[in-house]
Amino acid sequence: MNDKKQNPTQTRRTFLGRLSVGFIGLSLFSGLWVVLKSLIPNVLYEPPKRFKIGDPNHFQSGVSYLEEHKLYIFKQGNSFFAISGVCTHLGCTVKFSPFNQEKQITVRGKEFTETGEFLCPCHGSKFHGEGTNYAGPAPRPLKWHRLDLAQDDGQLIVDIATEVDRDFRLVV
Ligand code: FES
Repeated sequence: MNDKKQNPTQTRRTFLGRLSVGFIGLSLFSGLWVVLKSLIPNVLYEPPKRFKIGDPNHFQSGVSYLEEHKLYIFKQGNSFFAISGVCTHLGCTVKFSPFNQEKQITVRGKEFTETGEFLCPCHGSKFHGEGTNYAGPAPRPLKWHRLDLAQDDGQLIVDIATEVDRDFRLVV
């Protein structure tokens, strides 16, 4: 006679017992997970909107492109301005295409000496040297961002949260 032979009711009971323990464990773990997750703040970490880009004396005359920030910095004598390199159509990066000779243009009622223009490689938008769109699907001019000088070390600061007019110049 086999003593190890188990009663089917007992086997079913054992199985259901284990299943219950499993469900209880899973419920406890889910509850604990929710509590632990609530302790971690639901914050979206974005790069800062205002940051230093370097000593003004280290910028060459003309245009410099800061790839990391998709930003064009123009230096004319001792004045600076910053134009965004983000196309206003779908956000591709525009390229600055320099002219052989600078041109005097009047755009939106204001005179500007342009040394080149911005071209978008994605869908062909074109922008004057001061950022105004004149061809292609881009609906708006490129943004101009505020520049400041840092009080502590004299570096240029870009504020990409603040748009400025095309007349803006930071004189250092
Ligand atoms: S993203 Fe520049 S033209 Fe479309």
